[in-house]
Amino acid sequence: MHLGCGRASRREIVVALLVIAGLWHFSDVIWFEPTEFERLERWMNHDALRSDVYTTYTQSSFDWSSVRHSNRPKVLTALPKPLSDDAMPTVQHCFENETPDEARVRIARLTEVRRLFQANWASYRRFAWGKDALMPVSGGAIDQFSGWAATLVDSLDTLWIMGLREEFDEAVAEVARIDFGRSTSPRVNMFETTIRYLGGLMAAYDLSGRGVLLRKAVELGDLIYAGFNTENGMPVDFIDFEAAKRGDVLQVEERVVSASPGTLSLELAHLSQLTGDAKYYDAASRVMDVFYRAQNSTELPGAWPIWVSMKHQDLTTGGAFTLGGSQDSLYEYLPKMHQLLRGGDGKYETMAKTFLETADKYFLFRPMLPGGEDILLPGNVNVLDGGAELDPETEHLACFVGGMFGLAGKLFDSPADVERGAKLTSGCVFAYRAFPTGLMPERLDTAPCASRSRCPWNEVLWMQERDARAEWQRHLPLGFTTAKDPRYILRPEAIESVFYMWRLTGRAGLQDDAWDMFRAVANGTRTEHANAAVLDVTRKADPLPMEDYMESFWLAETLKYFYLVFSPPDVISLDDFVLNTEAHPFKIPR
Ligand SMILES: *[C@@H]1O[C@H](CO)[C@@H](O)[C@H](O)[C@H]1NC(C)=O
Ligand SMILES: *[C@@H]1O[C@H](CO)[C@@H](O)[C@H](O)[C@H]1NC(C)=O
Repeated sequence: MHLGCGRASRREIVVALLVIAGLWHFSDVIWFEPTEFERLERWMNHDALRSDVYTTYTQSSFDWSSVRHSNRPKVLTALPKPLSDDAMPTVQHCFENETPDEARVRIARLTEVRRLFQANWASYRRFAWGKDALMPVSGGAIDQFSGWAATLVDSLDTLWIMGLREEFDEAVAEVARIDFGRSTSPRVNMFETTIRYLGGLMAAYDLSGRGVLLRKAVELGDLIYAGFNTENGMPVDFIDFEAAKRGDVLQVEERVVSASPGTLSLELAHLSQLTGDAKYYDAASRVMDVFYRAQNSTELPGAWPIWVSMKHQDLTTGGAFTLGGSQDSLYEYLPKMHQLLRGGDGKYETMAKTFLETADKYFLFRPMLPGGEDILLPGNVNVLDGGAELDPETEHLACFVGGMFGLAGKLFDSPADVERGAKLTSGCVFAYRAFPTGLMPERLDTAPCASRSRCPWNEVLWMQERDARAEWQRHLPLGFTTAKDPRYILRPEAIESVFYMWRLTGRAGLQDDAWDMFRAVANGTRTEHANAAVLDVTRKADPLPMEDYMESFWLAETLKYFYLVFSPPDVISLDDFVLNTEAHPFKIPR
């Protein structure tokens, strides 16, 4: 039985099923332990589940599709025709059978992850039901994303993937009543609303087939589309809720971070794929055309600056560049758009490849370490008077780049990029291990080596680097020159890359890395009710100092990635799904 080995024909599937049936009887190769996973529904598209018997749909109090767009284009850009099936490579590694011992270890780990998720979900249900976020220390609740139950919507697909069917049904019934005609805040954040809510609804629909989820996704998609009701068709960063309802032409902000307009494409393209209505894809496509035209004319050709102006369609002015927050998902979506559209629009391949080359050349560096580890970390780049300078600051947020390089390397048949992805992933895993809590700080610095091939430890040089930094502290591990922001706020990016590299390469050690990370995270962030952001991971303490806050991405992303690392590789296969930047899997249409 080879799992995740490309696309199987009908005949191959029949043969494989017979083989599986045989194995089930005559050998002790196990992929699932029925007792522990009785309720785990592996056949995600089972017909009986495609009904909405449990839910009654309640329409939102305002119909966002009724908003008249003043400058809507006469002709909409339609979804492009995909390339032929064999023009797109498969990306997942061809996994061999696991031994009974491997299966036992893996299933025990999977079970632990699932238990922790269940405990968190029970607390959200008890203390924060229908609210955006649980307060994990006090057992309170808060709304910070318009009050549409962000954690609930963000968790739907994780519930489904973990086979928590009763909890899923109960959550869907709640989703069916969400009112997108009201918001707890007067301004709606386009980026967060798109990646968390719209992404969450569509992925849950893709997995479960529940029609009510698509209806709510369309209601919300029309709200987001109202954010494009502007003079030049570019999106606003924040939607003025009441003005948008009135159909006013909205004012595009002077300056926004580039990830904000640059991270709408995957979700809006998928909404067009699901509905057949081209207007969503058209809106996103116009934005990405602006990015495309600017890419080679920036201060650092191939990359876009942190700050851009959609109002003036100026994406070239500015000398500060990062792979971390403010830019991350803009880059992440380039290869993912190529995969979701199945190569249909060549500009994503061009943008992705051009960017990867620039990223490799300017942003990635090998840190100088006492153990001589051959790893890479992502930094920032500043361009002054035409000269590009590396700023060796690594953010936890930037840890997604390992997975991005890996996925792009597979999609574009570039083994060197897969290798870079592996070294970047090792870089973040190293940063977790290096600190006494087993957790990586939110932001840190190391001393870069000039060469990636030879990087001997030089203690004097390191001392010079660290003494040049006011933030250095005596207790930091050797090799680190700062832990500027010493928190760990339940972020997923490091385990995300471990998940990608595991599914893409099947390399030994990755599951053990994931398990070490899981234990450190689960233990270090545990509260009475759930898990919380911690304030300082650079010093051991029991318990660690905490913040009464649990972001919805903890359940949507972090625990999902941990779970998927220990799942059979055909669960959310990367050949069938593209995950958005909030870890919501979109089914690639065939
Ligand atoms: C940008 O430059 C790359 C070569 O570095 C090229 O392949 C690509 O087509 C250029 N993009 C545009 C929009 O001209
Ligand atoms: C759990 O965390 C505490 C506090 O950091 C630490 O003292 C303890 O050793 C950890 N336990 C495990 C099993 O890692």
